[in-house]
Amino acid sequence: MRKTFFFILITSVSLMACSSANSQEKMMLDEHGEIHQALENDDINDMIENLLSNELLVPLGQVPVPEDNPMSAAMIELGKILFFDPRLSGNNEVSCQTCHDPELGYGDGKVTFTKIDGTQGLRNSPTVLNSGFYTTLFWDGRAETLEEQALGPIQDPGEMNQPLDELVDKLRVIEGYDELFLAAFDDEITLENIGKALASFQRTLVVNETRYDLFLKGDRKALSAKEIRGLDLFAGKAFCITCHHSENLTDNEYYNLGLNSEDKGRFAITGDERDIGRIRTPGLYGITYTAPYMHNGSIDTLEEVIEFYNRGGDNHPNKSMFMRMFMSELHLTAEEKGDLLAFLKVLGGDPPIITKPILPGEK
Ligand code: HEC
Ligand code: HEC
Repeated sequence: MRKTFFFILITSVSLMACSSANSQEKMMLDEHGEIHQALENDDINDMIENLLSNELLVPLGQVPVPEDNPMSAAMIELGKILFFDPRLSGNNEVSCQTCHDPELGYGDGKVTFTKIDGTQGLRNSPTVLNSGFYTTLFWDGRAETLEEQALGPIQDPGEMNQPLDELVDKLRVIEGYDELFLAAFDDEITLENIGKALASFQRTLVVNETRYDLFLKGDRKALSAKEIRGLDLFAGKAFCITCHHSENLTDNEYYNLGLNSEDKGRFAITGDERDIGRIRTPGLYGITYTAPYMHNGSIDTLEEVIEFYNRGGDNHPNKSMFMRMFMSELHLTAEEKGDLLAFLKVLGGDPPIITKPILPGEK
């Protein structure tokens, strides 16, 4: 982390130095429109070369698949059925889809999730898009694999409230599930297989091949000049890349951005006071579909996310040193904010379109 940080600091300081020299030149020649245009093209070309050689910008590759849970079509199909089946919940009304709805960016569009008893939960339902790329799951990183994660919400009294010791028997009496598990695992219905199938299905919920990825793979025309300027800010002056970098645009580390929130974040797992309010850096693929933003859903739009960073975050007492020292001095101009937004929108990409399958025992 520290190495990355200095690397970025040095590149961005030198980038800033370059661009101000260029803009002086530009002013001198401003009367000559054509020369101005040519210089601007030079600027963009310089940016492109810089960005393409930035090792922290990496196009999304294949989703990692654990050795003990290889994917198959039958398993993905079963996982999809389980994802949509409300009978996995205690009252038979809540499914994974309730809070991770394909039509709402695989989140629920709410500030924080609604508990099974109708009261408000504490956290925002994150998208499950690209969740197969994380090295830890949940806002506080308390689960390590999708297999492990999947049984969490099923038994959580606030989410699906389904005691796990009854779940297998419940599915066994639904006509059709036996065959589906047999086809997928050559095995019977078990909790482990439920987790594996849900994990496999979620590994297919990926936003990739965005124009950003095409650009990084060498298609210099994949992004407009405005989007390139936005990516250049993302990777330089606006410091976003400090935490949102590499594949899936996350370092999988934890930070307190200064959001005014009672949430203890990573502290609940480590017990280390320095972790109070620290949250795992989310990836940014699919981001245009997943408002509202942040672990507490407190920011409505991407414009406001940019404003939040531009003021160095809010005032949580445990706000990260990086936010205090660097983000508070961004001073992005209105045009720069627009450019950055244009780039973020590219990351929205095209989420997979999934519709509710016919469930076992349903006509
Ligand atoms: C009642 C709403 C609700 C239901 C139902 C629900 N989830 Fe979630 N899900 C959430 C919330 C809220 C979080 C974040 C919780 C946290 O970080 O503490 C989350 C987190 C996740 C994550 C982690 C994403 C990340 O970025 O780390 C995955 C994966 C996930 N859920 C999958 C599922 C699956 C699979 C099911 C069905 C078995 C399910 N969820 C059911 C609300 C829900
Ligand atoms: C110090 C690390 C760090 C830096 C720098 C940083 N981010 Fe973040 N980002 C995070 C963390 C951590 C979160 C989640 C915070 C939370 O929910 O409390 C986040 C959340 C976000 C979200 C909301 C994601 C969601 O799913 O709700 C967006 C959008 C975002 N960042 C974009 C940016 C942009 C644009 C920049 C540059 C201006 C930036 N980030 C700089 C760490 C960082």
